[in-house]
Formats: sequence, structure tokens, C-alpha cells
Amino acid sequence: MTKTSAARVYRGTPRNLRFLAQQLRRGELVAVPTETVYGLAANAFDAEACAKIFRAKGRPATDPLIVHIHDLAQLSELGVVNDAALKLADTFWPGPLTMVLPKKPVVADAITAGRPSVAIRMPQHRLLRQLLRLSGVPLAAPSANPFGYVSPTTARHVRDNLGTKIAYILDGGPAAIGLESTIVDLRNPRAPQLLRPGAITRDALEQVLGIPVAALKRSSDSHAKSGQLSPGRMKRHYSPKTSVVLHDSLADFPRRDEAYVCIRRPAGRLPKNVFWLDSRGNLRAAASRLFAMLRELDAMGFRRIHVERARGEGMAEAINDRLRRASAY
Ligand code: TXA
Ligand code: MG
Repeated sequence: MTKTSAARVYRGTPRNLRFLAQQLRRGELVAVPTETVYGLAANAFDAEACAKIFRAKGRPATDPLIVHIHDLAQLSELGVVNDAALKLADTFWPGPLTMVLPKKPVVADAITAGRPSVAIRMPQHRLLRQLLRLSGVPLAAPSANPFGYVSPTTARHVRDNLGTKIAYILDGGPAAIGLESTIVDLRNPRAPQLLRPGAITRDALEQVLGIPVAALKRSSDSHAKSGQLSPGRMKRHYSPKTSVVLHDSLADFPRRDEAYVCIRRPAGRLPKNVFWLDSRGNLRAAASRLFAMLRELDAMGFRRIHVERARGEGMAEAINDRLRRASAY
């Protein structure tokens, strides 16, 4: 933590929630817990407040924000809704799913980076839902990390990174999921496209929609190339400062000044520089530990961090997507 930290961390008492809701309505920024990662929130109807988000994060103005809503009335207030979106909302909201839809004029260009579409999510975290209800406005919020760094999964992570830039942090405990929401582009409801894999898998989306969901394309990941697509797909993102090297499997650990992160605990006696995301290799548990692990190892001064890829589909796809970005140079 920095010496000049201005941020105060608030517990989710009714009084604190009323106070923070009032700050949001007044145009202040509040870092908020969600079930995925912590977000840096502002009143989505206040373009000036939203502009502060970009300054605090050092985020380029070309990278649009997700708008968090409390109820479906706010969905149709912000976006042009279609049947596919309603089906997914019905099944997965509140939850870790973000939908991209054509935007209504009320959504400021500052939020969408001038695009005609808006990304909308109804989060599940109990305290954030209360804050959304009390503030009475949708909240624009990207992840509460400095641009390009690993997303925060605790209030402490937010304070460590943004403590000098913001005044208010709501502590809702460690994020249950630990990876950012799944993003699906539903501008054309007959041709949905995955923009970012997450805890809601492509398979789960397809089962509800009854049509294929185009997979995330890996090759043209760059912002410049993917004009219409999600800039969050840019390759280098979520990166610790220490360089990350990926492996299909990790079985030996030759260098003592480098860290090795396995998905599950390897058998036998292990040197101190070997870590694991979940003792039994449960992928949901592993995902929830991943970002905190990268931050901890980043602070420990290892020369490099070796990480084992997750195997399988679904959650493995989301974990490997974040690993790929953390290791991209
Ligand atoms: O889980 C999450 O989604 C977290 C929590 C705080 O809700 N938020 C989050 O926000 O991860 P952020 O800003 O770090 O990532 C949002 C992504 C960015 O990649 C952005 O480019 C994309 O959403 N996005 C936002 N609006 C978009 C739009 N209109 N079209 C395509 N992509 C959009
Ligand atoms: Mg982010």
C-alpha cells in the first residue's frame, strides 16, 4: 500500500450503503464488489463521473465500460432488447454474464467509447445489488485495476492499486468467481458471438439459445484489427509485472528463483517455489484463486512465473484465456 492512500474501505452496513449510494448519485467513484472481480463504479447517467473512471484507471478512452443494472426495466432503458437477450437474462441474471446490445440514446458516448452498442450486466453480489437499488441509477464499472494489470478480487487489491486515486471502496469479501464476466455480443440475435469466455460457458449459452454461439477468435486478438469486437480482447491484459510462461503440464521444477503454479497439488514433497490453485484441481476453485495468486507471486520477486494450463472445456477455456493474456508480451 502507498503512504498517501486516500481510499477508505467500507463494510456493507445499511448506513455505509446509503452513504456510498449518495456519493455515487453525486458523481463520485466507488469501488464495488461483484461476484466476478471488483469494479470501479460511477453513475452511468453522469458522463463527467464516467470520465473519472478512465482517469483513475489510466484506461484509454477507446475501451468502453460495462453498465451494471438492478432490474430488467433498466435493461430496456439502456439497450435495444431482443428475444435472445431476454432468454439469457431470464436464465443467467443476476450473474456473471454481460450482453452487448444496440444502445439507446440515453447512454453516453463516454461509456461506449462512441460505439452504437452498450455492454450490460445484472450482477449478483448482494451488496452491489443493494447499492444499485439505493442509488437508483445504473452503474458503469470496469474492473477496478490500473489498465493492463491483473483484475482485483479483494478490497485489499483495489486499495493496493488505486488507493491514491479513489476515496471509497466497498468491501464485499473475496470475489466468488474470480474471473471477469462472460461477454456475448447479441446485436444480431441470430448470430451471437462470444467476446470473452467466463464462468457462464459457451455451451451453457447455446443450450439456452438453441443456436450456435460463435467462439472467441484467437488470432486477430488485437484492438486495431478487431474494430467491431471487444477491445478487452486485446492480447496483453491482466498481466503481472513478472513474466509468465505457460505449460501444458508441470511436473518438474528445476529453477529455485522461478515460481511454478500447478492447477492441482502435485504429489509428494515439494520445494517452496511450487504453488497450486486448488488442492484437488477443481476448476471453479482454481479460477477464483488465479488472480490473487498472480498478484502474490508478483510481489515475491520471482524471476519468472510458470503456470500450467487448465485442461478441458468450459471453465478451462476462461482460465486459459486469462493465462494467455497474462503471458502475452
Ligand atoms: O465481470 C466483469 O465484467 C467486471 C465486473 C466489474 O463487472 N467488469 C469488467 O469490465 O471486466 P472491464 O472494463 O474490465 O471489461 C469490460 C469489457 C472490455 O473488454 C470492453 O471492451 C468490453 O467489455 N465492452 C464494453 N462495452 C462494449 C461494447 N459496446 N462492445 C463490445 N465490447 C464492449
Ligand atoms: Mg478489465
